[in-house]
Amino acid sequence: MVAVAILAAGRGTRMKSDLPKVLHKLGSHTLVERVLKSCVSIQPSRIIVIVGYRGDLVQNSLLDNNDNIDNDNNPTLEFVEQTEQLGTGHAIQQLLPYLKEFSEDLLVLNGDVPLLRPETLKQLIDTHKENQNSATILTANLPNPKGYGRIFCDTNNFVTQIVEDRDCTTAQKQNHRVNAGVYCFNWPALAKILPELKADNDQKEYYLTDVVPFLNPVMAVDVNDYQEIVGINDRKHLATAYQILQMRIKDNWMAAGVTLIDPDSITIDDTVLLQRDVIIEPQTHIRGRSMIGAGSRIGPGSLIENSQIGKNASVLYSVISDSVVSDNTRIGPYAHLRGDSQVGSHCRIGNFVELKKAKVGDRSNAAHLSYLGDATLGEKVNVGAGTITANYDGVKKHQTKIGDRSKTGANSVLVAPVTLGEDVTVGAGSVVTKDVEDDSLVVARARQTVRKGWRLKQSEDNG
Ligand code: UD1
Ligand code: CA
Repeated sequence: MVAVAILAAGRGTRMKSDLPKVLHKLGSHTLVERVLKSCVSIQPSRIIVIVGYRGDLVQNSLLDNNDNIDNDNNPTLEFVEQTEQLGTGHAIQQLLPYLKEFSEDLLVLNGDVPLLRPETLKQLIDTHKENQNSATILTANLPNPKGYGRIFCDTNNFVTQIVEDRDCTTAQKQNHRVNAGVYCFNWPALAKILPELKADNDQKEYYLTDVVPFLNPVMAVDVNDYQEIVGINDRKHLATAYQILQMRIKDNWMAAGVTLIDPDSITIDDTVLLQRDVIIEPQTHIRGRSMIGAGSRIGPGSLIENSQIGKNASVLYSVISDSVVSDNTRIGPYAHLRGDSQVGSHCRIGNFVELKKAKVGDRSNAAHLSYLGDATLGEKVNVGAGTITANYDGVKKHQTKIGDRSKTGANSVLVAPVTLGEDVTVGAGSVVTKDVEDDSLVVARARQTVRKGWRLKQSEDNG
């Protein structure tokens, strides 16, 4: 068993942000949440997060989203404060009074290295234990190592020194082997030398990496895929990491039997679930806790957020959030479903139709130019073009109910609260303000009057 410490106290000056760096989002999760998730599967005995800059915010964000760490056996998060941010070594020094009795290994993770795979952490810990190292450090050979600390080894391939990019000589900068910011330490050995750290470097900070010459043996473990160790220091790194993450997610779905047409123009959160033979068309984005059923076609040009789409459905140029769409239903083009809407199977919600908190029964259609808000529709209902539920009286929202097989004529307004029974027909252009019984025709508009032979009298001026 190992304990984990996550460094999350820094401000992240290079992000030029009011938000602490580790709270920036990479897709569906913050950076620090991702680091946390990467270490959970190694089943640490304890997880300690070191917070400092806007620490309350970091702490609350982690506690609020604790369901992301989905294993019940996880230890409860512990937080240690680093009131002044004097460097990564200073951050770990804060653990000294806290881990006085602790005698096992400590895995240290930078809170801004969000793409680590659990297997990589496992490999690092296994190597550490097998070799009984004092410290084992995750390393990578980067094509562009700028900004990373460089790893130097002796002739037996043990690490002797880590030199930060800004402290490197020109010759040292030629070394492309870098420190990933992921370490496994024998805690008692580390604890003994932590107080010795000096801040004699370009940044006048206490570097955790400066413990290396005082520990023996220190081994480096190269990561298989160097993209895992990208560290986020600025917005450009954040964008690079997002691309790497997207590539991983999309490769996985393609391998699982999903067609992505023009993957570069598609984004999919890692919280999304897709079944076989889903086809995702260009310029489509699927976010949050969304699920798409087998054989459905999504896009082009659609956004699905926190929604469930059934099997063999299609969604074309539409936005769906917090809603459910059942099997064989066609949505769009240009529909907007939101606020917990539920659409049954074999329905059609078409051009310029907005649904808000609307429940639509199976085989019902609203094909053109409608707003259905706070409405419950039965089965086989046909909503005529331009039908509007007037659900808001300026103070409160009210419900509209439409029974099975009812039809509304074009341009009807249903003024809520109002209930139309089953098999009701609403004449075009009606403004329905009172409930209508089953099996009825309702026409609620001014009668058409015709005066035969009537013409506007012409004045003398306009001849
Ligand atoms: C660090 C490493 C560098 C490595 C790189 C990998 C040191 C001295 N350098 O550099 O060798 O290649 O990570 O990404 O460790 N933090 C605190 N308290 C502080 C300072 C930082 O908690 O006082 C936290 C930050 O919030 C961040 C992490 O430590 O999550 C790393 O800090 P950062 O300043 O980004 O270090 P780098 O310069 O990237
Ligand atoms: Ca960093």
